[in-house]
Amino acid sequence: MEKAVKRIGILTSGGDAPGMNAAVRAVVRTAISQGVECVGIRRGYHGLINGDFVKLEASSVSHIIHKGGTMLYTARSQEFTTPEGREKALATCRLLGLDGIVTIGGDGTFRGALALSRQAAEHGHQLQVVGIPATIDNDIGCSHYTLGFDTACNTAIECIDKLRDTMQSHERCSVVEVMGRHAGYLALCVGLAVGATAVLIPEREFDFENDVVEPIRKARLSGVTHFMVVVAEGVGSAVEIADRIEKEMGIDPRVTVLGHIQRGGTPSSRDRETASRMGYAAVESLVEGLGNRVIATQEGSVVNLDMEEALAMTKEFPYDRYDVLEALSRH
Ligand code: F6P
Repeated sequence: MEKAVKRIGILTSGGDAPGMNAAVRAVVRTAISQGVECVGIRRGYHGLINGDFVKLEASSVSHIIHKGGTMLYTARSQEFTTPEGREKALATCRLLGLDGIVTIGGDGTFRGALALSRQAAEHGHQLQVVGIPATIDNDIGCSHYTLGFDTACNTAIECIDKLRDTMQSHERCSVVEVMGRHAGYLALCVGLAVGATAVLIPEREFDFENDVVEPIRKARLSGVTHFMVVVAEGVGSAVEIADRIEKEMGIDPRVTVLGHIQRGGTPSSRDRETASRMGYAAVESLVEGLGNRVIATQEGSVVNLDMEEALAMTKEFPYDRYDVLEALSRH
C-alpha cells in the first residue's frame, strides 16, 4: 500500500518537558521502519520559518530516550502566529518536500500546526499535521496525560522531601511555589504526595483563614512543629503567601520557588513509555493519511483525535484529590 507521506518533519515547541526526546526517537524510528524519511526542525516554529533543520536517521536518536530537554531545542515564536510568518514556514516545508509534520508541545503548538495546515491547503499543498501533548502543566483538555508531568511531579517531590528535612530540624514553615502556569494539576499532585499542610491551586478559590491558617493551626495543636504549604504559580507568589502567614500567624516561613528545575531531569518510566507509544501512533496516523490529529491519552489508552475537536475539549479537574488532601492534612 502506498504511504500517504514520504517525508515528515518533527519539531518540539513551547516549554520543554521530560519525555520529548523519547517522543522524537519514537517518531524517527517508526517513520524509518515504515520507509518514511524524517527531518528534525530545530527551535520549533522559529526553525521552520528560518529553515533550521537536520536530517534524522535511526542512529541520530540513539541514546536520547533517557535524557531530559529536547535534542531539537525549543522556542516560542511570535512570528509564526502571523500569516506572513506561516508563509515563510510553508516555504521551508515546500523546499524540504515535507508532506507531514509531527509537533510536540502544548495547545498553542497544536493551534499553530492547524493554522499552518489550513494555510497550506489554501495553496493546494497537502501538509498533514499531528500533535503529541507534552507539558509539565498537564493542562491540555483533550488528553488525560501530557508528557513530562510525571517526571516533573517526581522532581518537585524529591526537592520538597529535602526541604522537609531542614524544615523539620528547624521547626519551620515552608512555602513552596510550583509551576503549572494557570493550572493546579502539578501543585495538587505534588501536595498530596508530600503530605502538604495546605495546597493552593487556581481551580479552587481559597479562603486564607480556612485554607492556610486553620490547617497550620490544627497541625500545631496535634503536635506538629513544621509545616509545608504548596502554592501553584497560577495562584500568585509564594512570597506574598509567606508574608501573610507571618503577619497573621506570627511565624517566619521560608520561601522556595522550584522554578525551571521542574522541567529538567531524566524522564520517568511513565513518560518514556507514553512518549514511545504516542510517537509510534503519530507516524502511523500520517502513514495512513490521517492528518490534523492529536495523539492523546484517555483512560490510559492512546487515542487519535481530530485536532480541531481536540482543541475544543476540556477535561475534569480532579477535585476529589483535594478532598483526600483535606482529609489527610486537617486533623
Ligand atoms: O508550560 C510549562 C511552563 O514551565 C509553565 O509551568 C511555566 O509557567 C512556564 O512554562 C514558564 O515558561 P518559561 O520557560 O518561558 O519561563
